[in-house]
Amino acid sequence: MTDSTSDRTFLSWPFFDDHHRTLADRLDAWAAATLPDIVDAPGAHEDVDTTCRALVKALGDGGWLRYAVPKAYGGMFDTLDVRSLCIIRETLARHSGLADFAFAMQGLGSGAITLAGSDAIKSAYLPAVAAGEKIAAFALTEPEAGSDVASIASTLKDAGGELSLSGEKTYISNGGIADFYCVFARTGEAPGARGLSAVVIDADTPGLEIAERIEVIAPHPLAKLFFQGCHVPKENLLGARGAGFKLAMATLDIFRSTVGAAALGFARRALEEALKRTRERELFGAPLADLPITQERLAEMALDIDASALLIYRAAWTKDSGAPRVTREAAMAKLYATDQAQLVIDKAVQMFGGMGVTKGVKVEELYREIRALRIYEGASEVQKLVIARQLLSQ
Ligand code: CAA
Repeated sequence: MTDSTSDRTFLSWPFFDDHHRTLADRLDAWAAATLPDIVDAPGAHEDVDTTCRALVKALGDGGWLRYAVPKAYGGMFDTLDVRSLCIIRETLARHSGLADFAFAMQGLGSGAITLAGSDAIKSAYLPAVAAGEKIAAFALTEPEAGSDVASIASTLKDAGGELSLSGEKTYISNGGIADFYCVFARTGEAPGARGLSAVVIDADTPGLEIAERIEVIAPHPLAKLFFQGCHVPKENLLGARGAGFKLAMATLDIFRSTVGAAALGFARRALEEALKRTRERELFGAPLADLPITQERLAEMALDIDASALLIYRAAWTKDSGAPRVTREAAMAKLYATDQAQLVIDKAVQMFGGMGVTKGVKVEELYREIRALRIYEGASEVQKLVIARQLLSQ
C-alpha cells in the first residue's frame, strides 16, 4: 500500500472546489485503512472475481459509488462530477489497480443508463449501482468492431412486443460477474453509426452466455459474451433508436478523462516508489538519488505527471462547467496521461533493476497494470484521430 507521500499540491489548482480536496483526503485515508485487507488477502490476486465483488461491496458501503450515479437515484451530485470521478480513480489507482477497476466499471457500466435511461430504468438500476448491490458492465466491443464502433454487427430486432438481441461481444470488463450489461447493437435505422441503439439486459436473461473468460497481463474479470435471441423488454432501450453510437461516444466523453486519471494514479505511485528506492539504495558508495542520471529521470517523471494532471483536470473541469462536448479535451487527457504513465513506470522499473521485474514488487505490478489503459476506451491512435478530425473540421 502507498504511504501517501505523493504530491498533493495539484489540489490547490483552480480547477477544484473545497469538496474535491476533502474527497481526496477522505478517500486516501479510507483506501489505506480498507483496501489491504481485500486486495492483499491470500488468493486475492488469483481469484479476481471474488476480489472485485468484495471491492464493489466495500466501495458501496463506503459511499464512494454514489459519485458514479446522479443524486436523484442515490448519487452524490445532480449530474456526474467528472473532477470527483477523476480524483477517485487517481486515488484508488495509487493504492490498487483492482480497486480503481471496480469503481470505474460501476460508472462506465451504468453511464448509458444515467445519460439516456427512462426514469423507471434509472430507478431499477442506479440506486443498486450506488450501493454496490448490482455490478455493471459496458458491452460495446465486438471481434470485428473495436476501434470502429460504427461497424457493430450484433442485432437488436423487434420480436412481438419485445426486442431480440443476438451477436457476440468481446473484451467485456466485468463479463462473468456483472448483474447487467449495457449493450450496443444494430437496429438498422441507417447504415453505420446512425443505425445503432443501446439496451440494458440482465445477466440472467436466457440466451446470454459467458462464452469464454479472457486472461490478461493485469488480471481482472473479462469475458467474451454470446447473445442468442435474448428477449429484452422495449422499456430497456436507452435513448432513441438509432442514437446508440452518439450515446456510446457521450458516455466515453465522460469516462475517457477518468482513464487518464487512473494512469496518473499509477504514475504517481511509481514516482513514490522510485523516490523511496533511489534514496535508500546505495550505489558506488552513495545513494542512487545522488547520480545525475537518476535526478534527470526523476525530474522527467515529475514533469510528465504534472503535465498529465493539467490535461486531465482541464478536461474534467471543462465538462463540469457545462460544455456539451469535451471530445478533444478528453481525448488529449487520455492519450497523454496513459502514454506518459507508461514511460514514468518504465523508468521506475529501471531504477529497481532486477527487483523491478520481480513478481510481488509494486513497480512490476504497475508495469503490467498500465498497459491496457493505452488500448481500452479508445486506443491512443483513436484519440489522435479524434483530435486531428476536430482540428480539420474547424
Ligand atoms: N458525442 C456525441 N456525438 C458524437 C461524438 C461524441 N463524442 N463523437 C461522434 N459523434 C457523432 C458525430 O457528430 C456524428 O454525428 P452525425 O452523424 O450526426 O454527423 C456521428 O456521431 C458519427 O461520428 P463519426 O463520423 O466521427 O464516427 P466514426 O465512425 O468515424 O468513428 C471514432 C469515430 C472516434 C473512431 C469512434 O468509433 C471511436 O471513438 N472509436 C473508439 C471506440 C472505443 O473507445 N472503444 C472502447 C470500447 S469500451 C472499453 O474499452 C471499455 C472497457 O472494456 C473498459
